[in-house]
Amino acid sequence: MNEVKSLFYRESLLEKLHEIQNSYGYIPEIEIENLAEKYMLPRANVYGVISFYSMFYTEPTGKYIIRICDSISCHLNQSDSVLNAVKSFLNLESHQTTEDKKFTLEIVECLGHCGEGPVMMVNNKIYKKVNKNTALEILNNCL
Ligand code: FES
Repeated sequence: MNEVKSLFYRESLLEKLHEIQNSYGYIPEIEIENLAEKYMLPRANVYGVISFYSMFYTEPTGKYIIRICDSISCHLNQSDSVLNAVKSFLNLESHQTTEDKKFTLEIVECLGHCGEGPVMMVNNKIYKKVNKNTALEILNNCL
């Protein structure tokens, strides 16, 4: 496959993965098989693309995906205190989902607002300069 064709397939595959994830909330095994067949790729290649992008999931997630940045800039601004408060409140570790499927917690790398950390993201909404109290307030508003 030449480079242009390969790029086209990759872009098209990413678009399909987004559509599937938007529809199911994750990418089920059957859809991975369908994509592998459609793009004439080994399933491992489709999994490779999915696992490269941290915002694709192969398991159902919570209604609210809580992402807390723990990269250096946020860490220097006490993101660990926010993280510990959220972990304790939800009784979760990173990449876990509450039994009621309401929350999924993820410790992530930089969310692109390094000067305003600690940064927390709930689904697509960014919260800057959070502390443990504001983080818990945000979670309480999701209940
Ligand atoms: S280091 Fe946290 S947003 Fe960049």
